[in-house]
Amino acid sequence: MSEPIIAPKGLAGVITDETTVSKVMPETNSLTYRGYPVQELSEHCSFEEVAYLLTHDDLPDADQLKAFSGKEKSYRDLSDDLLASIKLYPKNAHPMDTLRTAVSFAGMEDKRVWDDSPETNMDKYISLLAKIPAMIAASYRHAKGLDYIAPNKDLSLSENFFHMCFGKVPAPEVVKAFDVSLILYAEHSFNASTFATRVITSTTSDIYSAVCGGIGALKGPLHGGANEQVMHMLKEVGEPAVAKQWMLDALEQKKKVMGFGHRVYRSGDSRVPTMKKYTEKMAKFTGAEKWLEIANILEETMVSEKNIYPNLDFPAGPAYYMMGFEIDMFTPIFVMSRITGWSAHIMEQQANNKLIRPLSAYVGSPQREVKPMEKA
Ligand code: COA
Repeated sequence: MSEPIIAPKGLAGVITDETTVSKVMPETNSLTYRGYPVQELSEHCSFEEVAYLLTHDDLPDADQLKAFSGKEKSYRDLSDDLLASIKLYPKNAHPMDTLRTAVSFAGMEDKRVWDDSPETNMDKYISLLAKIPAMIAASYRHAKGLDYIAPNKDLSLSENFFHMCFGKVPAPEVVKAFDVSLILYAEHSFNASTFATRVITSTTSDIYSAVCGGIGALKGPLHGGANEQVMHMLKEVGEPAVAKQWMLDALEQKKKVMGFGHRVYRSGDSRVPTMKKYTEKMAKFTGAEKWLEIANILEETMVSEKNIYPNLDFPAGPAYYMMGFEIDMFTPIFVMSRITGWSAHIMEQQANNKLIRPLSAYVGSPQREVKPMEKA
């Protein structure tokens, strides 16, 4: 082996492999999935089309979409055993923990778990795409003491999620805003959770284990968990009149303000303008414009004081709140979407695998002798 390369802390600025799934371009503030700009996908495509695109290299034609969506709809049911296991989860558990456990259970139920042929893995992906929304909705209703609502296979993936959570499908404006959020959250190259799924896959472990690892990584507030923290912050600020001072105080105290900053984007997140447009629509639609006013003041103050811009979690958090979701559902919703990007990367890693195993620089105690304990 050649001389070791010392990577910077957090692998910042390091390219660890090639990918054809997406390209993040901080210099032009843009993001493409398989070559298509994410803004155009958000305006012209459904989440299902993007879920197909990410794992198939191109957008589907009408027949391909029908077959893909038909399969997804047919996989929405959870087994009786999985539903019974969800009823045993502690009611106060965080929905990211219940979701991680439910995905693990689905892995134990799948007899093809060690079959990692491309066809079987594509099938497992479509099954997870269909079942994850059902797992989130079933856990949510269990925690609230409400009865499970079975999936409706005539509805789109987004519509069915609202149906399974709340027993009704909201207005098309709300469904579109939700669908756009799923498209924007779907993929973002070698972020922490995607990298975690690739590391697990590189050991030739199975897709369920990789997705459980991805969920664990996404839960953290420095990653996907930020969308929940943003809403907690907006509620803590409470009123537009105090928002500027709140931010000045937070910066004075050197606090990390959730929903701001990004490892790759330094002058704005390519996904924010599109999401912001739909958050504004939600504010108008629901009349809950106060959250937007507070968010705008926080953003203006952060940009003028620190030149640090909001990331996607900043507009997505309040949008989900205005749609009626409880705050601890926000990061599980992110999983519903990111299962697409994770699966694309898992399949890409499998197709051209090399075990991911870096070195470490040991800085601990020098070698020393074990002195056996004196027996009393
Ligand atoms: N609030 C306040 N200051 C921030 C900040 C934030 N959200 N994000 C970055 N900064 C500041 C840091 O304090 C640091 O300042 P310094 O040089 O004076 O110490 C500088 O900007 C660089 O930040 P750093 O933490 O080194 O950047 P990073 O690339 O390691 O971190 C994040 C990126 C996303 C982890 C970081 O911006 C963050 O913690 N954001 C909040 C959590 C969040 O929204 N996560 C979702 C990401 S999509």
